[in-house]
Amino acid sequence: MSYSKLAEALKPFCEKLRTVVENGNEIAVITHLDADGITSGSIMASALARMGAKYSVRAVSDMNTNLIEKLKDESHDFYVITDLGGGWAAHLRKALGSKWAVIDHHQIPEEEILTDDSGQILNAWKYGIDGGKEVPAGGMAYMVASTLDKKNRDLSCIAVVSAVADRQDQGDKKSFVGLNTEILKTAQSLGLVSVDLDIMLTGRETKPLHEALAYTSFPYIDSLTWNRENCHALLKNAGIKLKDGNGRWRVPAEFSQEEKSAILDAIAKFVATSNKTSTGVINDLVGYVYTLAAEDKRSQLRDAREFSTMLNACGRIGKAGVGISICMGDRNNMLSAGEEIIGTYRTTLRNYISTIFADKWRLVDDGKNAFVNGDGLLAEDMLGAISSLLSGSPSLAGRLVFVRTLAKDGTYKFSSRKCLGCNSQANLGLIMRHCAEAFQGAGGGHSAAAGCRIPSSALEDFMAGVRAATSDPKFATTS
Ligand code: C5P
Repeated sequence: MSYSKLAEALKPFCEKLRTVVENGNEIAVITHLDADGITSGSIMASALARMGAKYSVRAVSDMNTNLIEKLKDESHDFYVITDLGGGWAAHLRKALGSKWAVIDHHQIPEEEILTDDSGQILNAWKYGIDGGKEVPAGGMAYMVASTLDKKNRDLSCIAVVSAVADRQDQGDKKSFVGLNTEILKTAQSLGLVSVDLDIMLTGRETKPLHEALAYTSFPYIDSLTWNRENCHALLKNAGIKLKDGNGRWRVPAEFSQEEKSAILDAIAKFVATSNKTSTGVINDLVGYVYTLAAEDKRSQLRDAREFSTMLNACGRIGKAGVGISICMGDRNNMLSAGEEIIGTYRTTLRNYISTIFADKWRLVDDGKNAFVNGDGLLAEDMLGAISSLLSGSPSLAGRLVFVRTLAKDGTYKFSSRKCLGCNSQANLGLIMRHCAEAFQGAGGGHSAAAGCRIPSSALEDFMAGVRAATSDPKFATTS
């Protein structure tokens, strides 16, 4: 596929940005607080820093009218918005005039593309690129950064992290597709990233093997996922050498090919005796892993998926700044802070999931749509992580899951996902946007992952609208 349309748009877009910097203007980078937001915001911040620009970066939950008013009041010279802002161009134009640019990959209304007369929106879909699987915001920001200056090609490894963070490893065996492949090739050619087919365990570079297996929730394996003792017993009984000569636990990345085959064999035998887990999970366990070669062995940042998990954790528990510093190169205090954050984040998630399943009233499941009521339990910024985790749970297989919580500002926030094995044609991004807008809310996202915010008074009607929309061909994915 040719990216000439994107290349053509990049030139004037970068020229404008360069002029803004050269004129001594101060730039506010506003990004989404998830891992793709943190990577894209950081890539832009690094590019601006290297140009000697005056800039600030901040991460926010979502774009909304209050935020736009606040940005206006702060009266910055220019605003660069990453991984956010799709569907908000008219509002931005009204509040900020022409002093803004959006770098994004979320599907936007056709009208927004047609009315972008001054080329302020650099959105993947505008150039015929599927922003759901071919490039995330991190990749789009990388395209801007590397056009601004070829030296910024070293940021390609951060763009690789953004692609796995946004689950864009959707090719065969978790390979990349589309523009992500091109960016990956650059990172590989610079020796920054290596790609291998391997067992995909969480904590590949950092966790003892049995813990890595227990922490792996994609795929979910009944009696192993979240169960360290069972994982330890299984691997030990299979004769896997779990510690090295110095008595130190070995991490997954340290096992030989032969040992990895034995590990997979042991898991396969276990799964074969389980009536709750399909044998297909063994296939799902093997895929491409992306290693950031310049990072230390056993560092959380060496495996791109672990890196992205750390960034996500930082954003979700309100410490996006730590993630941004790490992406921009801090390997001292901020990395230690990040390591601590990930522990807190995991404990919180585990507690949330147990409570959802323990409090039966929280889950309303009709076999097709599952609605989870997280009111008074789930922190709004953790909602996406919870819906992602639930989407891998075998008890919700095949469903569309909608998780909600009552946010601090009195609105309801929803996060929706297609669960494992779901073959619904429904496009969740369209459904969330349409149903939220019908009740003065705002929403959007991708076909398989989307979210929205609605006024509290609209809750029941909104949910009825969503139920109807999930079986309405008008909201089916076309591609
Ligand atoms: O918040 P959550 O992780 O559920 O969001 C899923 C996807 O939907 C993300 O890509 C997010 O940026 C997008 N989204 C959106 N508009 C919203 C909420 C979420 O575009 N109001």
